[in-house]
Amino acid sequence: MAPQLMWIGLGNMGRGMCKNLVQKGNLEKPLILYNRTKKRSEDLAATLPAGKTEVVDSIQEGVKKADIIFTIVSNDAAVKEAIDAVLQSDVKGKLVVDCSTIHPDTAKQVAERVVAKGAEFISSPVFGAPAAADAGLLVFVPAGPKSAIDKFRPFTTGVMGRAEIPFDDKPYESSLKLKLLGNTFIMNMVTVLGEGFTLGEKTGVGVEPVKQLVDLLFGGVYSGYAERMIKGVYWQMEEPLFSADNARKDIGHAMNMAKDVGVDLKLAKQADEYLKVVADHAGGSKGDIAGIYGALAPDALSLGGYHARSGITSSTTTVSVASHLRRQYSTYQTSTPKHPNYLRLQVDSNSNGARVRRLVQRLESAHALFNTTPKRREWVMFWSRLTIYDSRYRYSILIGLVIVAAMCVGAWFLSPKGENQTTWRSSLIIAFISCYLMWFITFMAQLHPLIEPRRSNIKEGFQHE
Ligand SMILES: NC(=O)c1ccc[n+]([C@@H]2O[C@H](COP(=O)([O-])OP(=O)(O)OC[C@H]3O[C@@H](n4cnc5c(N)ncnc54)[C@H](OP(=O)(O)O)[C@@H]3O)[C@@H](O)[C@H]2O)c1
Repeated sequence: MAPQLMWIGLGNMGRGMCKNLVQKGNLEKPLILYNRTKKRSEDLAATLPAGKTEVVDSIQEGVKKADIIFTIVSNDAAVKEAIDAVLQSDVKGKLVVDCSTIHPDTAKQVAERVVAKGAEFISSPVFGAPAAADAGLLVFVPAGPKSAIDKFRPFTTGVMGRAEIPFDDKPYESSLKLKLLGNTFIMNMVTVLGEGFTLGEKTGVGVEPVKQLVDLLFGGVYSGYAERMIKGVYWQMEEPLFSADNARKDIGHAMNMAKDVGVDLKLAKQADEYLKVVADHAGGSKGDIAGIYGALAPDALSLGGYHARSGITSSTTTVSVASHLRRQYSTYQTSTPKHPNYLRLQVDSNSNGARVRRLVQRLESAHALFNTTPKRREWVMFWSRLTIYDSRYRYSILIGLVIVAAMCVGAWFLSPKGENQTTWRSSLIIAFISCYLMWFITFMAQLHPLIEPRRSNIKEGFQHE
C-alpha cells in the first residue's frame, strides 16, 4: 500500500514540489499539507484537484496520520522548530525527510533526535531554483540508510526531480556538505559574471560582447544568470529566485564547514560582501543573488552617454520605457543599489541626442507627478505608456476616431435611398463603431501597465540555485 505523505513548508520550493507529488507521485491518499502560515496551504490546495490534498492546522495532527514526513523550511532554526513539533507525536516506524539547506552539523543533530524516537531520517537537500521545483527538475542529494532512501526514491527522479546524487548508507551530513560546496560554485559564478559585466562596461568593451563570450564559452547556468543580470530581471521580480538571505546563510555555513578543515574560502567571502550590499538595499528576503551586478556598479550611471532617473517605481513602466529606448538608441537599463529605478541610456553614434534629452525630460516630469496619490500614480503610469513608451502611436486613437467618423458620415449620406435607408444607415454606423471600439479596447489594454505579459517559461539556465 502506498504510504501516506505529509509536507511541512510551502515556501517557494515546497509549493512546486507538492504540486509534482500530487500530479506524478501516484498517491493513494491525499497529501497532508502543513505550513506555518495556513493561508499558503489553503492557497496551494485550491490550485490542486479536489480531494488530492488535506490541509491540517498543526504538525501533530498531520504526523499522526503520516508515514513519510517531508520538511523544507528556511533555515536551521526553522528545521529544528519543525522537527521539535514532529517529535511531539509518536513517530515510531515513520520516515522523516528534510530537504532544507542547513549546516551539516544541524542535520546530524536532528537525525540523532529523530532516530532516537524510533523513526528513520534522510537528509536530502536539493539543487535547483523554484522554477525547477515547479517543473519537477530538481536534483536530489539523499543521505542516510539505503533502506530509508529506497522508500523515498519513488518520489524523486521523474516526480519532483530529474536526477539524484545519492549518498546511500553514508552519514546524514554528507549530502549537505555537497550542497554547501555546490552553492559556493553558484555564488562564485555570479560574482565573476557581475565583475565581468562591470569591467566590460567600464572599459568600453560593452556588455553585449561579454554576454556573447559567456554564451559561447560556458552557456547553461552561466548564460541564465548573465541574462538575469543584464536584462535587469533581478530587480523586476516580485519574489527572488534565490534570496540574498538564503544565499548568505549558505555561504556562512560553507565558510564554517571549510574553516573546520583548514580551507579558507576567499571567493565566497567576497560574494558575501556583495550580497550584504544587495540585502541592505533590497531587503534580505527580497533581493536576488543576481543583484550582485547592481552591488558592483553603484557608479555605473556616471559612465558615458545619458542617464535618466525614471523615478517611476513600477518596474513594468520602467521596463517599457527602457525597451522603447533600447529599440531606438541601443540603450539598456541597469539599476544600482542606491538607484534601483535609474535607466542608463548608452547612446550610440547615430543617436539623436536632442530626442534622448526630450525623453529624459518626460521621464522626469512623470516622476514629479508620480509622487502623488496611488490613484494618480496609476494614471501616470498609464499615460506615460502612451506618451513615452509608444509615442509613435500616440495619435492612433484620434486618427482612428476621425476615420471612423468619416466612414459614419459616408454611410449616412451614401446609404441606398428607400424604405430600408434607416436600416442601412444604422447597421453600417453600428458596425463601424463596434469595430472601432474593439480595436480601441485591445489597443489600450496592451498598453496598460497592469497587464504587462510576464514570462513563465523560465529557461533551464535559470533553474539552478
Ligand atoms: N529558493 C531556492 O532557490 C532554493 C533552492 C534549493 C534549496 N533551497 C532551500 O530550501 C529551503 C526553503 O527555501 P524556499 O525558497 O522555499 O524558502 P521560502 O520561500 O522563504 O519559504 C520558507 C518556508 O519555511 C517556513 N518557515 C520559516 N520559518 C519557519 C519556522 N520557524 N517554523 C515553521 N516554518 C517556517 C515558511 O513558512 P511561512 O510561509 O509561514 O513563512 C515557508 O514555508 C531553504 O533551506 C533554502 O535554502 C532554496
